[in-house]
Amino acid sequence: MPIEFHRREGIFRLETPGTTYLMGLAEDGSLGHVYYGPSVPDNNMGYLMRTGERPLGPWESPRERASFDDVFPFEYPAFGGGDFREPCLRVRDAQGAESCALRYEGHVIRPGKPPLPGLPAAYGGAGECDTLELTLQDPVLKLRVTLSYTVFRDTDAICRSARIENAGGGPVTLTAALSASLELDNEDFDVLTLPGSWARERTIDRRRLSHGPQGAHSLRGISSHQFSPSIILAQHTATQERGLVYGGTLVYSGNFLTQAELDQFERVRVVLGIHPQGFGWRLEPGESFQTPEAVLVCSEEGLGGMSRVFHDFMRRHLIRGQGKHRPSLVNSWESFYFDFNTEKLLDLGRAAAECGIELLVVDDGWFGARDDDNSSLGDWRENTGKLPGGLRRLGEELGAMGVALGIWVEPEMVSKDSDLYRAHPDYAMTIPGREPALARNQLVLDLTRREVRECVYSQISALLRSAPIKYVKWDMNRPLTDVYTPSLPPERQGETAHRYMLGVYELQERLVTDFPDVLLENCSSGGARFDAGMLYYSPQIWTSDNTEAADRLRIQEGAALIFPLSSMGAHVAACPSHINGRVTPFETRGRVSLTGAFGYELDITKLTPAERALIPVQLEEYKKYGPVFREGDYYRLASWAGNGVYDALMSVTKDKSLAVVVFVQVLSRTNCRSLRLRLQGLEGPALYRDTATGEVRSGFGWMRGGLLLGPFTGDFVSKLTVLERVETEK
Ligand code: DGJ
Repeated sequence: MPIEFHRREGIFRLETPGTTYLMGLAEDGSLGHVYYGPSVPDNNMGYLMRTGERPLGPWESPRERASFDDVFPFEYPAFGGGDFREPCLRVRDAQGAESCALRYEGHVIRPGKPPLPGLPAAYGGAGECDTLELTLQDPVLKLRVTLSYTVFRDTDAICRSARIENAGGGPVTLTAALSASLELDNEDFDVLTLPGSWARERTIDRRRLSHGPQGAHSLRGISSHQFSPSIILAQHTATQERGLVYGGTLVYSGNFLTQAELDQFERVRVVLGIHPQGFGWRLEPGESFQTPEAVLVCSEEGLGGMSRVFHDFMRRHLIRGQGKHRPSLVNSWESFYFDFNTEKLLDLGRAAAECGIELLVVDDGWFGARDDDNSSLGDWRENTGKLPGGLRRLGEELGAMGVALGIWVEPEMVSKDSDLYRAHPDYAMTIPGREPALARNQLVLDLTRREVRECVYSQISALLRSAPIKYVKWDMNRPLTDVYTPSLPPERQGETAHRYMLGVYELQERLVTDFPDVLLENCSSGGARFDAGMLYYSPQIWTSDNTEAADRLRIQEGAALIFPLSSMGAHVAACPSHINGRVTPFETRGRVSLTGAFGYELDITKLTPAERALIPVQLEEYKKYGPVFREGDYYRLASWAGNGVYDALMSVTKDKSLAVVVFVQVLSRTNCRSLRLRLQGLEGPALYRDTATGEVRSGFGWMRGGLLLGPFTGDFVSKLTVLERVETEK
């Protein structure tokens, strides 16, 4: 059974195909974390909670609550007793005091996984997964906390969340309500996070775990360019292929904290959840609060093993629309920015049709009076000066060429210079008496309010019904500031940022439900909301506004640590790069994009004949090998972010019959021999043929001997290698 309670030992056992997660009950009913790691069959593991150990401090007695709390590995730590590490739960009672002590009340084990109301969350039916709901309670506050754990039969990921219910007679306020925590002994861990900035998202940061809190966070109202809502602990010696690694990521897109803390006893507490700063959620009697979900993965097969578990989990149990057709596309943004009209778009469409590109995205600038970024957000009606006949005519004309229409929208925003703002200035999120902070000349709509959501949704849905639109890019181009809503009383303002996210989720849920044939791609100034929460609604996300191939290799490598390649919008852009001036070959730009959701982000009518001739070749490669990257197993072979010279990744189909390797020599190496690249993920004894050279070698041969590449001269040279499994050497 994947989930069991062993009454005699007081142990809860969660079993995934390759890992075991154990919790135990202490004498006083406190729920402790016992073990999480590679599978162990034993149930008598409660000793790992160390409750019987004699403390050494003169003031410590294991019988006294403060001493006990200071060391006990709480499964869901609460603030106010003697546990001074980062808590998951803080509760302020009606007197203003903050203290909470949770004790076991009961549990149920059920097949399948119930949805989390209003929140993105993993899914799975009976037979695919099982869920443990473990209820703890504080007898003084009459607060009930239900911890949910889902284990899946086909993946080593574990989903966790908490629901907090006020079963008492008076109001309480949650000043922290995180999703999950984990208690580990420090096994010589490094902490990995994915920091960055606009156009420089998700740089892999790996450093030694040291005392005190370390991790990632966002207080921007979005998961942000600056960090991903994820955290990884990897043994210092862990590589892509080997070593113990723990990973956690949140199915959430707003303010977050993912933190590891090495404590005084060399133990590590990891917490993941909504950032407590600025958060406050009032619960009247009978009300409850549901935290977002956290996904935990443990792998002994290094970072690569962890990534593959996250990828499979998200593709099978989180991303709805994973199997949707991912059309090749051309986007107007870096082609024309705001400077376009129907003629230009149709010229682009004609060129797209000739090359075989399936869809044209009309990005920012098609609506209101928007010729730059100063106006019109909120007025989701075509600018018929630019587009006579509107999107409908454009869509029909493109359709006649065999090219589908996609559009860009930014539904969460309003420009001061817009009809919407003139009619409803109060729809913008501002603090009364204070000039709101503009960013990109725009304000955020107060999506905590139903009427504001209705106003946006009615416009967007009417638009989608008015024209043959097959794809929507949902953008979000600024952080939240002036976080306040008149719809809540003062004591509830701490709910605003989370209620905003719930508003966004509700809108996207409506969109994907009402328009199931539309492909949704999320975006936030590139990758400022690249998280598992958004992936629940859109199978792909615009990875970064940085479309330059060498930088993209690094950004995509960082994202792929957690997120599947299929989720990354990746486009071939113009050279010199608009973002950093770098010049790279068209062929290499194609190969870097091939590994994600493929497209072009340049005016293809302006290409040289030689470049243009490459487009059908790239599209053919995307048709043949795109599915290998989207659905196969990903292996990171080399990282130019690490070695400074070359980059290599590969993907292998699940049946191991086809493998595709992308290699890029980012900087040329003077007077060097060929490079030897050991491949991964092949079936050892099977034979594989290099489709270009005809060489046949066993999987072991390619993995242990490897592939010789180069020597190449020149920067940014790339090579695509395809290996197919064959029966004989001929
Ligand atoms: C930011 C996005 O990341 C870009 O791709 C583009 O859509 C612009 N916004 C348009 O304003």
